[in-house]
Amino acid sequence: MLNFSIYGDRVARLIRRRVLSANLLDLAPQALQGMVISNRLIFIRVWQASVIALSLMASFLVRFDFVFPHGEMRHLLFGLLIVLAVKMVVFYVVGIEHGWWRFSGLSDLVKLLIANAGGSIVFTAFTIALVGSEFPRSVYLIDFLLCFLATAGARFGVRLYHEMVMHEVAAKKATQKGLLIYGAGIAGLNLVREIRSNPSMNYRIIGFIDDNPHKWNVSLMGVNVLGSGRDVTAIVERYRRRSHSIDEIVIAMPSASGKQMSEALTNCRSSGVPCKTIPNLAELLAGKVRVSEIREISVENLLGREPVQLEHDLIHESVAGRSILVTGAGGSIGSELCRQLIRFEPKCLVALDQAESDLFKIEMELLGMSSQATVCPVIGDIRDYDRMEEIIREFGVTSVYHAAAYKHVPMMEHNVIEAVTNNVIGLDNMVKAAYRNGVNSFVMISSDKAVNPTNVMGLTKRVTELIVQSMPDSTGDNGTKFVSVRFGNVLGSNGSVVPIFKEQIARGGPVTITHPDMRRYFMTIPEAVQLVLQASVMGKGSEIFVLDMGEPVRILDLARNMIRLSGHEPDVDIPIRVTGMRPGEKLFEELSTESDETRPTYHEKIMVFCGAPIQRDFIDRWVGELRSLVSRRDEVRVLSHMADIVPEYQPSGKWQVALRQRSLKAAAGD
Ligand SMILES: NC(=O)c1ccc[n+]([C@@H]2O[C@H](COP(=O)([O-])OP(=O)(O)OC[C@H]3O[C@@H](n4cnc5c(N)ncnc54)[C@H](O)[C@@H]3O)[C@@H](O)[C@H]2O)c1
Repeated sequence: MLNFSIYGDRVARLIRRRVLSANLLDLAPQALQGMVISNRLIFIRVWQASVIALSLMASFLVRFDFVFPHGEMRHLLFGLLIVLAVKMVVFYVVGIEHGWWRFSGLSDLVKLLIANAGGSIVFTAFTIALVGSEFPRSVYLIDFLLCFLATAGARFGVRLYHEMVMHEVAAKKATQKGLLIYGAGIAGLNLVREIRSNPSMNYRIIGFIDDNPHKWNVSLMGVNVLGSGRDVTAIVERYRRRSHSIDEIVIAMPSASGKQMSEALTNCRSSGVPCKTIPNLAELLAGKVRVSEIREISVENLLGREPVQLEHDLIHESVAGRSILVTGAGGSIGSELCRQLIRFEPKCLVALDQAESDLFKIEMELLGMSSQATVCPVIGDIRDYDRMEEIIREFGVTSVYHAAAYKHVPMMEHNVIEAVTNNVIGLDNMVKAAYRNGVNSFVMISSDKAVNPTNVMGLTKRVTELIVQSMPDSTGDNGTKFVSVRFGNVLGSNGSVVPIFKEQIARGGPVTITHPDMRRYFMTIPEAVQLVLQASVMGKGSEIFVLDMGEPVRILDLARNMIRLSGHEPDVDIPIRVTGMRPGEKLFEELSTESDETRPTYHEKIMVFCGAPIQRDFIDRWVGELRSLVSRRDEVRVLSHMADIVPEYQPSGKWQVALRQRSLKAAAGD
């Protein structure tokens, strides 16, 4: 026996799939629907007449085993006249024409039974009276059954269809988000394609926005370009009035500059509709993600950085199968160095830090990233020379990436001895331990604060650059290659402006900036670290590489954009307060990329600084004296000793006064 419920399910599934994919409701023109509804009774009567006539014809066929005898034609024609007249009247009297088919229930079924039974009895009576007993008797019964099944089947079929299919279409439509795509380029078109092929994304595409006037009013892949970015608010309003709300705008401009992204964000914000974006060009080119991975707009998007080109083979050659030491591995730069280095399959990644919990965190993360490389977390202090030498020997380290340092400018102004011990003596320990143990390459992370330093932290970084530069190049006796890589602020690093602003915004403000004209270079941490790896394979030794940081960003604009990204209006919902500049802070950090002292390299984003190096012997003696001054904890003499080799140092605050007094005394022969 056939299992009808299984077949019924399959048919329902088939219909549902077809109808849902074609979105039937969208296709059915509203005018046609309106015409059917206003002439409903006529349609129903035509349908009933057809069913009554066809049932009788089918009954004759069934009665005569589907071979219709010519002699029966007269009976059929008489029968049709009588049955149509009788049943149409009975159906009308019983009232089965009324009621919505999609809501048919048991009472409708009973009504249909009564109407059909009544119609068949009257039909039988009339036919016997008018045609006589020659009319085939079994036709009365077959006709009753067929007509009842057809009239009831049609109603319950409509109900089934509505409950199983239309309901779902309507529900789906109600939950779908109306989407406006900002950018009708390749990325926007790819987004349309992916949304259409992936119904779980649950978007109803309303249209494109594009600033290119040639695209306006053009239909691309069946989606209209509705106007430019400036029209967003008007378009959103227009669709809201038509009850087609736009619930989300996705900016699909992966190669947009930071300025273009900020403009697009401002346009979207003014419409009051939440705005998201697709992955950036670097991620798309790397093939890591799809355009349809729609995400929140981040500060990084507003910087609009271009993807970094890397010499992967050279980097792989210098890392694969070797022991690599990263100092400061628990910090922002050090941890990203670990993440990127482990992809190049080192034999052992020695992650060194004095901060146990931070080291633990990055160890856990690295263990989940590679099954090949061994991750060796090492607790150690770069101020301890013996421990550093022990680590380099124990692991047979071939490359060192030195990112351990103190970096907070105002704090270091008040902790001179600690800053110098950690940043300068610590670096000197690392350099010596690497050199004496034949490490192949040593990369020191420097900072833009080393350029014409005005603070203790920047001064220590400039001194460390000089120490690294004084080391022999790779053609020297044991072939170690020492380089420094200098760059400006990275976004989101520990204690930097982005996490601070985020916290202030989350608290409801105010967002504090030190000066309205303060500008800083910004790079993302992964971008800076990629360039550090690239620079590490470019150097011959003794170079100071300087990374191209793009355009400097006004901190006030950054604060405003971050407030907007969090869905608030700057100075309206969240105030911005200017607190005044702190000791040692500059309005603008130079990177010396545009000075006479830098030369380009073959890599467009990496320059080399060509300041004259200081002789190694001199530096050795100078560091010896520094160590002894530090042990005496004489802050002014320590700073003055450092200023001797960094004459461009311009101390600020109390150190300006103290150093001036000291030089006056020295001039007076004191
Ligand atoms: N963050 C930036 O925006 C930025 C930009 C350019 C350059 N830099 C430079 O990069 C370096 C690292 O910066 P970061 O942002 O990663 O800082 P961070 O504070 O996040 O990390 C520094 C890490 O070094 C460790 N460390 C400090 N002293 C140590 C010691 N004596 N022994 C062992 N470990 C020690 C700390 O525990 C910390 O984990 C600094 O020299 C900084 O000037 C940073």
